[in-house]
Amino acid sequence: MTDINPLDAPAVDAAVADALAAFSAAATLEELKEARLAHTGDKAPLTLANRVIGTLPGAEKAAAGKNLGGARGRIAAGLAARQAELEAERDARVLVDEAVDVTLPVTRGLTGARHPLETMQERMCDVFVSMGWEVAEGPEMEAEWFNFDALNFDPDHPAREMQDTFFVDPPGSGLLLRTHTSPVQVRAALERRDALVHHGRGIYVVCPGKTFRTDELDATHTPVFHQIEGLAIDTGLTMAHLKGTLDHFARAMFGPHAVTRLRPSFFPFTEPSAEMDLRCFVCEGADKACRTCSGTGWIEWGGCGMTHPNVLIAAGIDPDKYTAFAFGMGIERTLMFRHGVADMRDMVEGDVRFSQQFGLEI
Ligand code: DAH
Repeated sequence: MTDINPLDAPAVDAAVADALAAFSAAATLEELKEARLAHTGDKAPLTLANRVIGTLPGAEKAAAGKNLGGARGRIAAGLAARQAELEAERDARVLVDEAVDVTLPVTRGLTGARHPLETMQERMCDVFVSMGWEVAEGPEMEAEWFNFDALNFDPDHPAREMQDTFFVDPPGSGLLLRTHTSPVQVRAALERRDALVHHGRGIYVVCPGKTFRTDELDATHTPVFHQIEGLAIDTGLTMAHLKGTLDHFARAMFGPHAVTRLRPSFFPFTEPSAEMDLRCFVCEGADKACRTCSGTGWIEWGGCGMTHPNVLIAAGIDPDKYTAFAFGMGIERTLMFRHGVADMRDMVEGDVRFSQQFGLEI
């Protein structure tokens, strides 16, 4: 290409037209950058023409400068206009491409839920903790001695049969999976005996936990279930203290109108022994077709009684000096009638939808 003479107005105009055409042909900011370098860079025709001005005779310099200056001004304006256009296009595109559609359905991870048996167990313990009782725990694999002997079971008591109890191999190991939480009574009493005897500190404990029996899983049985045990040992405790404690427990669990009754019964580890019933809080005895109490007006809640002297002796506590009461109830059963759960298998199967119905109680 021959150099442009800065005084040759048509040639200068043609260079400007070339530049403006290249700018408008640029479809992207990248292409525009290339066009800019080509038409305004060091080797651009008008840049080269500019260098010639210095060599011109004085009289022509001004005309050449004016000619080129105007041309370069038009090129700069054209470039700026195209630059603004392309930037606006890019910004509009980015807004569309990167827009977030807040109406799109989302896939959220499932939040878990605490198992209702767990929250029920804590709710039950809280009633006693708020009265100053302690929570005690014991092992799930237990010595036969704690589970049966210390609790005054005869050596030939039917509950010791293989068909009721999971014994731990080898035969004669003396170990089993505890069939109730009552062995924790003896452990808790042994651990606190010195404080009772030497410092007069009464023993007040609740013992929640897993228990095991050789039952088949069905709507009302499960081989692994939960109980909560209560034990109080002090001087001067009577059946009236037991009844008062159970009434308070019932009202804390079922509302201020809860009513309990004791029915004579038998347990090897209490004398006298009683079954504890709860007035049906759904029909209050008025509905013969009530599903909660099967029309009897009463719901069996648990067993209780005054601790047998032999149990106190097994824990090294003098039954002539101290008296004690105890009670125990099933947590699954409590959940079933408190919440109208009809099938125990729902509690066992671990479907989170079952737990979620109980809300996210902490
Ligand atoms: N351990 C008994 C059971 O599993 C329940 C029970 C009854 C516990 C009477 C007690 C009690 O503490 O005094 O059926």
